[in-house]
Amino acid sequence: MAIRLGDTAPDFTAETTEGTINFHEWLGDSWGVLFSHPKDFTPVCTTELGECARIKPEFDRRNVKIIGLSVDPVDSHKGWAKDIEETQGAALNFPVIADPDRKIANLYDMIHPNASDTFTVRSVYIIGPDKKVKLMLTYPASTGRNFNEILRVIDSLQLTANYSVATPANWNDGDDVIIVPSMSDEEAKEKFPAGWKPVKPYLRVTPQPNKKGAAPGGQ
Ligand code: BEZ
Repeated sequence: MAIRLGDTAPDFTAETTEGTINFHEWLGDSWGVLFSHPKDFTPVCTTELGECARIKPEFDRRNVKIIGLSVDPVDSHKGWAKDIEETQGAALNFPVIADPDRKIANLYDMIHPNASDTFTVRSVYIIGPDKKVKLMLTYPASTGRNFNEILRVIDSLQLTANYSVATPANWNDGDDVIIVPSMSDEEAKEKFPAGWKPVKPYLRVTPQPNKKGAAPGGQ
C-alpha cells in the first residue's frame, strides 16, 4: 500500500556503503532523509550526491541523518564514490543503500513503471524523530533536486514541531511565520506573549520564534 504523510516509515535492514544498517535503529532520535537516485555513474546523480556530501554539515546542524539509495550493488556505489569525490570535490560522507533486489524501493514505492520499470525515480522521504513520514517528494530522473529546498522544508517542519507555527508561501528562514490554526487565541497569548498581527482571525502572523529579538514562544 502507498505510504502517506503521518504513516510510520517502513523499517528495513539493508547493505550500505557503511555496512549493514537497520533503518529505525540507525535513525535513533534523529530526523532522517531517505532519498533514491536512478543509477550510479550517471551525471545528474553524481552532482546530487556530491552536493549532499558538501552540505552535510547543514543536515548535521539540524539533527538530520541522510541516506541515499539505488538498485546498484555496494561495489558499484563504492567505485562511483571515487568519481563523486574527484568531480564534485566532496567525498561521500553518508551511507548509500544497495538495493539490487528492489526490496526497499518497492517498500517505499520508488519505482514508477511508467517512468522506468528498472530504476528508482528521485524520491525523497523526510522522517521525524517519531519515525513518521513528514514529507514526500518525487522528481524525474532528468531533474536534479534542490537540496536547499529540502533544508528549507526541514526548518519549517522543525518550527512546527517545536513552536506550533506554520510557514507561509515562499517562506525563508528568518521571515515571519503563522500561528497554527488549531491553537486558540488564549493559548497563543501564553505561547506568544509579545503577540501577533491578526491579518484575519485565522491568519495570525508572528516573528519566527527561534530568532534573536523574536517574541518569546514555543518550548
Ligand atoms: C542522471 O543521473 O543523469 C540520469 C539518470 C537516469 C536517467 C537520466 C539521467
